[in-house]
Amino acid sequence: MSRAKRIAVIPGDGIGKEVTPEGVKVLESACAVTGQELSFNYFDWGADRFLKDGTTLPADAPQMLQRDFDVILFGAVGDPRVPLNQHAADILLGLRFKLDLYVNARPCALFDRRLTPLRDRSEQDVNFIVFRENTEGAYAGVGGNFKQGTADEVAVQEDVNTRKGVERIIRYALDYARRKGLKRVCMSDKSNAMTYGHGLWQRVWKEMKEEYKEVETRHLFVDTLMMELVRDPSQFQAIVTCNMFGDIASDLGAQLSGGLGLAPSGNIHPGKVSLFEPIHGSAPNIAGKNAANPMGSALAGAMMLEYLELEREAELIRDAARAAVREKKTTVDLGGQLGTREAGDWIAERISKRGLAGAGA
Ligand code: NAD
Ligand code: IPM
Ligand code: MN
Repeated sequence: MSRAKRIAVIPGDGIGKEVTPEGVKVLESACAVTGQELSFNYFDWGADRFLKDGTTLPADAPQMLQRDFDVILFGAVGDPRVPLNQHAADILLGLRFKLDLYVNARPCALFDRRLTPLRDRSEQDVNFIVFRENTEGAYAGVGGNFKQGTADEVAVQEDVNTRKGVERIIRYALDYARRKGLKRVCMSDKSNAMTYGHGLWQRVWKEMKEEYKEVETRHLFVDTLMMELVRDPSQFQAIVTCNMFGDIASDLGAQLSGGLGLAPSGNIHPGKVSLFEPIHGSAPNIAGKNAANPMGSALAGAMMLEYLELEREAELIRDAARAAVREKKTTVDLGGQLGTREAGDWIAERISKRGLAGAGA
């Protein structure tokens, strides 16, 4: 048996603090089946800590995480008490940038046709993954304010696109398609309006796709992509796009596949410490009510296990999540009647039972 996998846990704010313990519970349950050891260390970065002593992301955190951990399980950040959620940008974008987690992988897979808002669509029709560039673009934080608070105020937010940044996310998406035997990859940009920045995406895409002749490649402007995703999602297997468009496309994709409550993501730098989280936020409107769906965190846990090459444990989680949806043992957003903790318990127990029965062996 390999040594314990070292997991840093950052629950964050709001429902992040409620769903993350469920994600941990489910990870423990899956790894108990195989005897894989896990160790968890908790970090209290979030709004409470920020409001107490001004800490957002400690300066030595990225180095410490890289040195002492294999992976990070993240909840969500965002709190109405913090103006502009500056702490959230420091913590979440800080980790993505400083750990150079350049791939944000966001799978959108429909577990049960009952959950899609699209008429006459089934599980086969909604099954794609969004690869979102995760370290630059409009999120780079390059810009500033001039004459702030006056009638002449100017606010500039630059969209930063580097050849290295664009190349590596496109290559990751194409390599992923090759590795998983996917037929189709769609690159999406807005090069008709953003001629400089997204002109670079066009040039890199054209060069790179030549190397992947076995993959059917396609380009769509992002406005058309949004429309086509709703009209006929079965066209898509993998989508690669910039930071902001990927943020938007993945919330749309989450809804097509059952809602924000069950959508997971991985912030990845291959071979380095990587961060896994549900794609939803801190949901202040339902926080503290034991109402949040823990499935996004549990499935982020499955992505984390896959990243750690613990395929069998990952599949145990996905199987149990599918069963929970099928049997309506879920929170209300997916048509069930369970609370956050009870939904987490159900998945964890399902995994243990399957483990005892020797399934998944
Ligand atoms: P949100 O994702 O928090 O919530 C959007 C809607 O989805 C709400 O109605 C919410 O109740 C519902 N929802 C979200 N997660 C759910 C779950 N697990 N179960 C059931 N329902 C769920 O987005 P928002 O309201 O735009 O943002 C709230 C705060 O979260 C903001 O501060 C925002 O910046 C932050 N945020 C953080 C992250 C992150 O940490 N990765 C992601 C998105 C938003
Ligand atoms: C996400 C969130 C973040 C983003 C916010 C909280 C900065 O929406 O993880 O999708 O835009 O990346
Ligand atoms: Mn988002």
